[in-house]
Amino acid sequence: MKAPSFLYGTAWKEDRTAALTELALRAGFRGIDTANQRRHYVEAGVGEGLAAAYRAGVVTRADVFLQTKYTYLPGQDQRLPYDPRASLSTQVAQSMASSLEHLGTDHVDSYVLHGPASGGGWTEHDGEVWAAMVKERDAGRTRALGVSNVSLRHLQQLAASGAELPAFVQNRCFARAGWDRAVRAFCTERGIVYQGFSLLTANPEAFRHPAVLAAARRHRATPAQVVFRFALAVGMLPLTGTTDEEHMKQDLASEKLALSDDETRAIESLSG
Ligand SMILES: NC(=O)c1ccc[n+]([C@@H]2O[C@H](COP(=O)([O-])OP(=O)(O)OC[C@H]3O[C@@H](n4cnc5c(N)ncnc54)[C@H](OP(=O)(O)O)[C@@H]3O)[C@@H](O)[C@H]2O)c1
Repeated sequence: MKAPSFLYGTAWKEDRTAALTELALRAGFRGIDTANQRRHYVEAGVGEGLAAAYRAGVVTRADVFLQTKYTYLPGQDQRLPYDPRASLSTQVAQSMASSLEHLGTDHVDSYVLHGPASGGGWTEHDGEVWAAMVKERDAGRTRALGVSNVSLRHLQQLAASGAELPAFVQNRCFARAGWDRAVRAFCTERGIVYQGFSLLTANPEAFRHPAVLAAARRHRATPAQVVFRFALAVGMLPLTGTTDEEHMKQDLASEKLALSDDETRAIESLSG
């Protein structure tokens, strides 16, 4: 299924995960992002929230774009979704099986490598994990694949390895880096959908910037809505992890703001 224009992020919600996932679906979100990483996510709670929404007739499985992640051992705590002594390929298969059980489904829509093994570049470990993820996709357990927390170098080396490119890149999006300009350009050239997270929390300077404040006044919107609308305008798929029902509605409504090209350009280049 095609990704919707917004993803609801389920990190850091602990015992509120199920209720907030259901609330997000009731508010109108049709994309859910999670990870099989108990340290930051309660993937089983996402499954409970989905089940509650299905039971209440809010959505069916086919209405929802479900995305989860495989996380390497150093990114996990002791609550592991795989045998840490198993090979990386086996870990991927075990993590996927556990995700499908948590989420109560036989496939996800996107399966993401949470982060490469090294910040320095794409390694052999990443190659092994990526090949295992491709196998999961070929077996029908995910529709598409993605990578997260990657630099341009990671992506260039992945491409140079001859491996299949991801359908999604999910990165923390810093305004001071031109909103991750180099990675976004790589993605645009290759038809990869760029998912941006921490758009609000990583960019406090954007909320004080005259270009954002002027657009907010002009469109009678909040600065957060302007930032999300800007993200959509430059082709990003934004994530929000808000716990507030009003913010959920505002975030979804940002899609309707008529930001002009000049306003988009001014925000895109607010830090040069
Ligand atoms: N791949 C990765 O490594 C990675 C890393 C981090 C996050 N993520 C994903 O991205 C998702 C989103 O995370 P995030 O870092 O972007 O931050 P977030 O968890 O969405 O936090 C947003 C913060 O901004 C506040 N806020 C204020 N006004 C808001 C508004 N109108 N709309 C939304 N939030 C508003 C929220 O408070 P209220 O709750 O009061 O609204 C919240 O404290 C996560 O849940 C996770 O799924 C992925």
